Amino acid sequence: MKKVITYGSFDLFHEGHRSILRRAREMGDSLIVGVTTEQYDVYRGKINLVDSLMRRIDNVRKTGLADEIIVEDHEGQKAEDIQKYAIDLFVIGSDWRGQFDYLDQYCEVKYLDRTQNISSTDIRRGRQGFVLLGIAGTGRAAGRLAREIRFVSGVEARAAYNPSLESARTFAGLYGIESACDNYEAFLEKTDAVYIATPHATHYDYARHAILAGRHVLCEKPMTLSAQETRELFELANDCGVVLMEAVKTAYAPAFLNLLAVARCGRIGTVYDVECAFTKLIPEDKNAREYEPKTGGSFTELASYSLLPIIKILGRDYRVEFRYFRGLNGCDIYAKALFAYDNATASAKTGIGVKSEGQLLISGTRGYILARSPWWLTKTFEVCYENPEDNETFSGPFPGCGLRFEIADFTRNITDPNARNYKFSREDSVAASGIIEQFLRERNGLWLKEP
Ligand code: CTP
Repeated sequence: MKKVITYGSFDLFHEGHRSILRRAREMGDSLIVGVTTEQYDVYRGKINLVDSLMRRIDNVRKTGLADEIIVEDHEGQKAEDIQKYAIDLFVIGSDWRGQFDYLDQYCEVKYLDRTQNISSTDIRRGRQGFVLLGIAGTGRAAGRLAREIRFVSGVEARAAYNPSLESARTFAGLYGIESACDNYEAFLEKTDAVYIATPHATHYDYARHAILAGRHVLCEKPMTLSAQETRELFELANDCGVVLMEAVKTAYAPAFLNLLAVARCGRIGTVYDVECAFTKLIPEDKNAREYEPKTGGSFTELASYSLLPIIKILGRDYRVEFRYFRGLNGCDIYAKALFAYDNATASAKTGIGVKSEGQLLISGTRGYILARSPWWLTKTFEVCYENPEDNETFSGPFPGCGLRFEIADFTRNITDPNARNYKFSREDSVAASGIIEQFLRERNGLWLKEP
């Protein structure tokens, strides 16, 4: 009796899937089909599947070709399954050629020709519509997004904008983007949505312009430097029927979302304190954006991350005050925002000239949650109790630089009329902008008036 096994996501089941299952079944006496979980697909870099695991299993079952269906949920499972089920032949499509040769120590490995001109990706594209994204600004953040966008289906980088055409062209060339523009109008013409990664003080104008042109906007943090401006942008987006989202990538990462759930569900009791730090040493340079006299400094640069867990866990009903120390051009090289809530306290530390441990610590009446540095690239966190034997560790996928979750959410919010952004909402963005505004007023109020 020859036992065959094959694996796949089998999203939006199509003829290519049926064909490989049929051929695999014909190569032996029984066929086991492994269907991937969503979490494992995210880990593999496949985001935005349409069908649930149950539906994908059901579709495989309906073919009548699988003698057994199993769930694939982790790396290394194929080798385990082959041994566990005493498999004779492992079969997979030719798009994977060479990648599973290592399994030949357990059984025979065969790559079967893929069915031409059909894939789940293409069907998703057709169903959901395809978002053509423009990238405004061509610095570090823009480069990261251009690299990560390739892992999300349903969206493609189509144009790059920089007031310097040469910079736009270099960037577009580097990431294989079709158009490079130095004219914002012409750039918007080529896109459905834009990612704004220009200097902080320019976000408002670029975002406003794009929204008025009917483009969806994913705006780098801080969205603007005032609560009023951020509120206005959201109102405008609402009036124009477009999506507006602030690009705080941690807010969309699975392990961070899990951390919020653990903090809120009472596992560590009542939360009394959230302490959060993000420091990144940036050499003093009078021409650097980070040391620009009005809008530079550690707080505008880094606070968006540190404010996220505070706002998400303790809410928006706080009083906030600041301590800070100045460096070049009067910019804060280190700042601390202290939050007073009725029944809790919180602090957000930021530094570009002072280094500290970049951790997130949430203290409650039964225990605490610790996300170690760099907590904002959340992969794991610990939940600790009085008795260390009870301690737990949680983890979640954070492939690449983690941006793909944010891009996937942005795309989903555009293509799915029922989607709602609760992960970093309009109210969260307005609150974060308001805190940064209050900080800048306090810091610049005295300094910029001095002779
Ligand atoms: N497959 C195939 N012919 C196709 C599409 C898929 O033979 N046209 C095979 C794959 O090679 C794999 C199995 O079907 O062995 C399950 O593939 P899966 O990744 O679920 O399907 P795709 O359509 O390739 O999905 P996606 O576009 O999301 O990568």
